[in-house]
Amino acid sequence: MISVAIMGHGTVGSGVAEILTTHKQKLFKAVGEELYVKHILDLREFPDSPLADRFTKNFEDIVNDIEVRVVVEVMGGTNPAYDFVKRCLQAGKSVVTSNKELVAKHGAELLAVAKENNANFLFEASVGGGIPIIRPLSQCLVANEVDEIAGILNGTTNFIFGKMINDNMDFSDALKLAQDLGYAERNPEADIEGHDACRKICILASLAFGKHIYPDNVYTKGISEITLDDVKYADSLNYVIKLIGDVKKTEDGKLDILVAPMLLSKDCILSDINDVFNGILVKGDCTGDVMFYGKGAGKLPTASAVVADVVDCAKHLKARKRIFWTDSDGSQVASYKDSK
Ligand code: HSE
Repeated sequence: MISVAIMGHGTVGSGVAEILTTHKQKLFKAVGEELYVKHILDLREFPDSPLADRFTKNFEDIVNDIEVRVVVEVMGGTNPAYDFVKRCLQAGKSVVTSNKELVAKHGAELLAVAKENNANFLFEASVGGGIPIIRPLSQCLVANEVDEIAGILNGTTNFIFGKMINDNMDFSDALKLAQDLGYAERNPEADIEGHDACRKICILASLAFGKHIYPDNVYTKGISEITLDDVKYADSLNYVIKLIGDVKKTEDGKLDILVAPMLLSKDCILSDINDVFNGILVKGDCTGDVMFYGKGAGKLPTASAVVADVVDCAKHLKARKRIFWTDSDGSQVASYKDSK
């Protein structure tokens, strides 16, 4: 049995707990052992949940529990997520996160901490919700020089545009609906002002081009100034407006990276991405265009990507030996060694 802790029980965290419970048999087959949810950290009122006995408000219960080998961080934001994740990695626990702000700001450092401590730090769910993109980009497309990545990376804003044009809904009603459906960030300004999309294009660019690109260095414009008239006018000209994150190599080898609302001709492949879906176009020098498409936000799509990473961590753990010994104060200490 592999014990898992979940930090955060909001939209994504409750989805992770749900999938780990409802898909137990399937996951058992994938890992070869049971994935057992041992702790759920939530600082709010504990919800009415079949896992009610697992809830804690104390992070120390997780970081000090030597049986917990994989920790899921789905709290969002960087405080206290950054400290909690770092401490878990330093304790030799693998960490899985959907937290794009954390990865975009601290990913390079946390990957290094994970490596030093023989742990994994995985973040498939940080970009594209349920769409597999991190693993394909860093593994399946690794033989390519990437020339450009262009994508609709924020489901909320895409959903808002759709509601405006198809249902004549005004901006604030469409945003409220996106919040009710669990698509928007806790502070939806991150969606509307483009920061969420910026974090995601930074993560993709960092993976594709091999150096950490920080969101603060990226020109970012959101959609808050786009009106229903703008959307209708674009439509009348056979265009759509989409919030696009784009990174491409310039001729002198530098990177051009930005997030902004853009006019796309209706025959552009990204113009057909509607509702809460994301579309990410990767141009590789060997593959040519590769398109990734699927639900970019929401409880179960995002939780599905998180759980896939948990399975990945769990499989790696099985290839390691666990060693226990006793500390000078008599407490039990665990360490892990890769098996030969
Ligand atoms: N608020 C984000 C979005 C959630 O709408 O895309 C998924 O990262």
